[in-house]
Amino acid sequence: MLAGKRILLIIGGGIAAYKVLELIRLCRKAGAAVTPVMTAAAGEFVTPLSVSALAGEAVHAELFDLTSEAEMGHIQLSRVADLVVVAPATANLMARMAQGIADDLATTLLLATDTPVLIAPAMNVRMWEHPATQRNLATLAADGIAIAGPESGEMACGEYGPGRMAEPAAILAAIDAALGPKPLAGKTVLVTSGPTHEPIDPVRYIANRSSGAQGVAIARALRDLGAHVRFVTGPGEVPPPAGVELVRVETAREMRDAALAALPADAAVFAAAVADWRVENASGSKMKKDGTGRAPALEFAENPDILKTVSQLAEGRPPLVVGFAAETDDVIANATAKRARKGCDWILANDVSPATGIMGGSENAVTLITADGAEDWPRMGKDEVARRLALRIAQALAAD
Ligand code: CTP
Repeated sequence: MLAGKRILLIIGGGIAAYKVLELIRLCRKAGAAVTPVMTAAAGEFVTPLSVSALAGEAVHAELFDLTSEAEMGHIQLSRVADLVVVAPATANLMARMAQGIADDLATTLLLATDTPVLIAPAMNVRMWEHPATQRNLATLAADGIAIAGPESGEMACGEYGPGRMAEPAAILAAIDAALGPKPLAGKTVLVTSGPTHEPIDPVRYIANRSSGAQGVAIARALRDLGAHVRFVTGPGEVPPPAGVELVRVETAREMRDAALAALPADAAVFAAAVADWRVENASGSKMKKDGTGRAPALEFAENPDILKTVSQLAEGRPPLVVGFAAETDDVIANATAKRARKGCDWILANDVSPATGIMGGSENAVTLITADGAEDWPRMGKDEVARRLALRIAQALAAD
């Protein structure tokens, strides 16, 4: 998708700017031209010489630069590209973008451009989680700006959490998606994700090992194809993607209510690892040891099956309902039976035996089971599984 395209790359002033050198190399290798723009602060982290050497073009940095104004004014510069990419998008740059402030070349270009914009945020975890940054992020997403990352992990400052800039290869994939077709434009897709927490008492709960990684990747891939995504998630570890309609829930029953409230939808993907049982005799106050050495007897009740409920709706059933089947034995046979039992259209079956490392890991090996039979997909990253599924959903909805 990148061949023959021009990217206006705005480099912000953050330590992650060094990774942008690799991004430039990857973009050029994929056949795109890169016009680099650096903020004053970016020059503290990478030099214009290395940026222009890799881009093969001069760096633009000054708003009032007579030579470049004579050659190409800043308004024109903002419009020559097929995509504007901001990496790293610092908290400050995001704040200025959200406010429409134009006080240097980078922000003036961002205000003047009529081309799509993709940002790759990068900042300290506290800055990322600050309500002001989250507000700005929501504003930018609502303005239609695409967002790549950030990722969770160890940071240059020694802290740990979300805020680390997406790796260059992931930004390249996001650029590819931003430039690509939007076959799901105008479609609404419901995605459930993450584990559910079922309370035992106000301080204890029953949970499972789902990180939410697969559901987050699916929501992101559907969003990248232009879908309006209603993302209903339990408390997963992986942060939800930007640019989706987010509904946070805790228990299976809350998830069912939120999923039903999210309808109508053109398709629904049930990636959540819903707890099958809840504690029926959950206590309203903290359970205490009673001194006898006896453990409390927990009684369980079955939770509603959300996938089955939605699949079997008499009215308002989404035209395409996709479930997952997490199995440890007889994967295909169990998943095929599950598809019939629940009444969904497709099931993505995966083997979650501990030896596979899939549950909580970054890869997945799935078999797509439809009315036409079973189709094995090779083991691949959860992002790749998500992209493949999103494309299949787009094809199915287009054929309707
Ligand atoms: N699911 C759901 N609501 C539930 C349980 C599961 O929506 N209460 C959905 C999951 O999101 C997944 C699919 O059903 O898409 C299958 O989940 P899985 O845990 O594999 O199946 P179970 O229904 O738990 O069946 P079993 O206990 O027989 O394995």
